[in-house]
Amino acid sequence: MISNEELHIVGESPLKGEVYISGAKNAALPILCAGLLTEEPIILNNVPELDDVKTILKLLEHLGAKTSKKNNQTIIQADTIHNTEAPYDLVKTMRASILVLGPLLARYGEARISLPGGCSIGQRPVDQHIKFLSALGAEIRMEQGFIIAKSKKLQGTVIKPDVVTVTGTENFMMAASLAKGTTIIENAACEPEITDLAHFLIQMGAKITGHGTRRIKIEGVNYLNGAKYVISPDRIEAGTFLCALATIGGCINLINVNPHEMTSTLHKLKEAGLEIEIGQNWLKCKMNKKPNAVNINTSEYPGLATDMQAQFMAMNTVANGTSSITENIFENRYMHVPELRRMGADITIDGNQAIIRGVNKLYGTTVKATDLRASASLVIAALASKGKTIIESIYHLDRGYEKMEEKLRMLGANILRAPRKE
Ligand code: UD1
Repeated sequence: MISNEELHIVGESPLKGEVYISGAKNAALPILCAGLLTEEPIILNNVPELDDVKTILKLLEHLGAKTSKKNNQTIIQADTIHNTEAPYDLVKTMRASILVLGPLLARYGEARISLPGGCSIGQRPVDQHIKFLSALGAEIRMEQGFIIAKSKKLQGTVIKPDVVTVTGTENFMMAASLAKGTTIIENAACEPEITDLAHFLIQMGAKITGHGTRRIKIEGVNYLNGAKYVISPDRIEAGTFLCALATIGGCINLINVNPHEMTSTLHKLKEAGLEIEIGQNWLKCKMNKKPNAVNINTSEYPGLATDMQAQFMAMNTVANGTSSITENIFENRYMHVPELRRMGADITIDGNQAIIRGVNKLYGTTVKATDLRASASLVIAALASKGKTIIESIYHLDRGYEKMEEKLRMLGANILRAPRKE
């Protein structure tokens, strides 16, 4: 059920203290789905407590897998799968549900997945998933809003998606791991979450090389075993806290981060004026002035992630100078702009480019969260605003940030969650 809660934030308190970064949502989701590839248990540490994770666990249970949580470990065992259908009710809330398609086809030879509906950040088609699972030998057709896929043993092949797709690459890697022969994925995504999934599949017995590059090679095996794995830290959550710091000022330490996966974000934050000390798995950061405006161009990893665009925009609204942001991955990822404008931001949009003229102050008001990262940008803007902001529809935030308001409160922010007043 969608939560009817809102955040109340009184801005202008600098951030100070230490924050522990949770496991990465975008690594946890495909790794949980990879549990379908074996009858043996998989045991995962550091799975974040998020609504998207709850949705994928619900979906795995719907398919017949056993899921449990013990001592901070999430355990999945897919030895009793009795169903290969992902219904609309589960898929509509989270497009990453498409990640069960590859594993179901590879291990059970069939899948019936509801087509994900529209999405506020763009059309987000799944044509590449379908085209290349077909190239592996699956017969796939559309019927009444469902992807219906069947296959005998999948056969390795060479695939080259027309666009770099993260969940697409993950679906191909999972399916090809149990295919006959060798699969090469050209034009593969090389996001750190792909590498995380590859490491996990290798622990399960898969033969994968080239992950982290544009060319991944997978030699299919007949059987995958259970495995234990620790989900890597969430680079987007870490980047979100640092954008908040650069916007509001103060001094924070991030614990449990992989700084080498955050190079583009850290580079931009340095340009904005953030002082950064980099450790092996920590970051110590300080900001004691107004940020400098920075230009942003989103692109595939190792470029600046589209998932950081909205947070940088929030920072730029109160920065010294004018900046431009160009969104190159999704065609409608500026849903936060009208809400930021309502708080006093000066932003104009022309196609996929936004021009942001830094203002002296933002002012608290009531705003509505429209998607996950847009919600994070509104939180950052609210923390920098004069007076009180109420952010409605925060269920978007709960999809991808673990205990965000608790973590911010520990850093000294004046933020609380409240039931929505009718
Ligand atoms: C993943 C991330 C999301 C991130 C995005 C881009 C997960 C669960 N989600 O989403 O947080 O914002 O990568 O880094 O990991 N495309 C097609 N056809 C397809 C697939 C994709 O045209 O079959 C297009 C998309 O519309 C988009 C681009 O390719 O324009 C990249 O999308 P993709 O990398 O697939 O995004 P997701 O994997 O859905």
